[in-house]
Amino acid sequence: MRIKNWITALVLVIGAQRADAQGKDAKRTVALVNNDIVIKTNAPIAEVQPTMWGIFFEDINLGADGGIYAELVKNRSFEFYEPMMGWKVRQSIFREGSVLVLNRKEVAGTNPRFLRVRKSEPADTLSITNEGFRGMGIKKGLRYDFSLLYRLPAAGLTLHVDLVSSTGRVIGSASLTPAVTPGEEWKKAAVSFNSTDSTLRGRMNIWFEGAGTIDMDIVSLFPSDTWKGRPGGMRADMIQMLADMKPGFIRFPGGCIVEGHDLSVRYQWKKTLGPVEDRQLIVNRWNYEFAHRPTPDYFQTFGLGFYEYFQLAEDIGASPLPILNCGMACQFNTAEVVPLDQLDPYVQDALDLIEFANGDVNTKWGKVRSGMGHPAPFHLKMMGIGNENWGPQYIERLKVFTKAIKEKYPEIRLVNSSGTDPNGDRYDYLNKELRDMHADIIDEHYYRRPEWFLQNARRYDSFPRNGSRIFAGEYAAQSDRTVSVYNKNNWQTALSEAAFMTGLERNADVVSMASYAPLFAHVDGWQWTPDLIWVDNLRVNATPNYYVQKLFSVNKGTHVVSALRNKKALAGEDSLYASAVIDDATGELIVKMVNVSAKAQTIPLNIEGAGKLTGKGTLTVLRSDEAAAVNIIGDTPVVSPSDKDITVKNGKLTVDASPYSFTILKVKL
Ligand code: AHR
Repeated sequence: MRIKNWITALVLVIGAQRADAQGKDAKRTVALVNNDIVIKTNAPIAEVQPTMWGIFFEDINLGADGGIYAELVKNRSFEFYEPMMGWKVRQSIFREGSVLVLNRKEVAGTNPRFLRVRKSEPADTLSITNEGFRGMGIKKGLRYDFSLLYRLPAAGLTLHVDLVSSTGRVIGSASLTPAVTPGEEWKKAAVSFNSTDSTLRGRMNIWFEGAGTIDMDIVSLFPSDTWKGRPGGMRADMIQMLADMKPGFIRFPGGCIVEGHDLSVRYQWKKTLGPVEDRQLIVNRWNYEFAHRPTPDYFQTFGLGFYEYFQLAEDIGASPLPILNCGMACQFNTAEVVPLDQLDPYVQDALDLIEFANGDVNTKWGKVRSGMGHPAPFHLKMMGIGNENWGPQYIERLKVFTKAIKEKYPEIRLVNSSGTDPNGDRYDYLNKELRDMHADIIDEHYYRRPEWFLQNARRYDSFPRNGSRIFAGEYAAQSDRTVSVYNKNNWQTALSEAAFMTGLERNADVVSMASYAPLFAHVDGWQWTPDLIWVDNLRVNATPNYYVQKLFSVNKGTHVVSALRNKKALAGEDSLYASAVIDDATGELIVKMVNVSAKAQTIPLNIEGAGKLTGKGTLTVLRSDEAAAVNIIGDTPVVSPSDKDITVKNGKLTVDASPYSFTILKVKL
């Protein structure tokens, strides 16, 4: 879309404001004459909470399995509904029963299946190949760690592990001759090797030499360059993108997967702890949620579980925000509810989670945390009860949770749901009930068109200044419409979010947290768009929306100060949106300015309360003339921030707000 069209589409609201102004000649004259933005740096109007800008993580779009969880083998324990999904068996001569899936459900409830490979003739060739999650991303020269659990009653078999490129070349291999295991005992065998080339969509082939029978489970391949080099850890490039945002919090594990399609497949944190082989796999609700984006190979292995989420939060300096099921399955799906008199186990899960995160190592759950390697507490301060739940059923259940948690842990702040939308009967009902309950934090969600974001930059100006705080928990401008496959992470959406976020920042006394959603999407495995960060098997791609989020977060400041034109906050007037903060730690003033028009605007800043400004500052600009501009994975980003130094001359400051731009000006006070 070229500029002219964009103006029409994007700034309807500004047109309306202009028309209004034309009817008020006197005021309009003043507005034209006095263009300055007055910033009172010595009169902070609100504290910016350290949690202000954060991250919403959900295992959607291959976010965890096939995403940040760096495991390359799909269906490593043969527990998918189709036990051989992701695997291919090849044999030179077909022999009945040479590859069998065994199910010992009666004795091994959490990991019932394993694979039995029987090779009776040394001269036969027999192999099993894993296709990975949309292929395996392999990097030249990197060490790869292969492992499996196995039983081998008699010697005679050697396993050859080959990495195979998308064109069929072997680009790394190793051999493993496992020791014989006594009786029924399972052992772990492992081998590491370096790859000789890179490939975006490789696979792993295991072929068997000799003769014998081997039982195999948790067949695993990890790259060695995981986040912090942790074995069995996370994809470092994806986590680095999060760390770079310096997020105030990280919400996990979702999202609708908290609720589950029905209660049997709700997220249960206790089942995500301990050795990975004991973590019971369940289906991911995004496997079958959208008929137009079916993902039949999407399951949750929980290799990435609650311990790892807490550790991640700690690593990136974000306050952990776990969300727990409130006794209700997803209301878009089955809407199952637990009878109120059977809610105890759910409430107990919440209480135990606090003990798991914060409890002394001598407590039951503190000991579990310590046993997993983290004796120090994880400093949990808040917790969400329910994801996007609604109706009286939610309030009834929430009250039970709240009473129990507050009685035992009054210091824990609870995040409560206001449903699916930022307005309407459902919202009004919940908003009233939650405020009557003196809810700590109300979670609001808005997946809306860019125009909505522009028109709602004043949303929180009129919210009560005391009482419940707001968590803008899930939001993203939709270039088409919610759940449309045509939504793009384009510049128009990002700019409208930036405009809206100046309103969040200005209202930091009301809004204490905000996060874009969803976070990650795999280019070959997504269900939902738009998403903040797109990835393939080897690369990450920052969207324009990512840069907006990051720029707000790394320029969070500590206190909001007023930025007024003609005594009014800028929230669409002359197509401009502005907010300002000071940072006590660095002694800086940070002004954020969004220009959604095609007109370059030079805006004088009238800085009060700081004495005469001298010295240097920086100007960061994110802009594009193309509303439809998107960053493409593997290409140089077309929308990315540029920085330049500025010098303050004669104590005067102006902001040159380019057409369609988000500008951040930072100066020492
Ligand atoms: O972010 C995608 C989904 O949108 C979340 O899982 C859910 O909370 C919301 O409906």
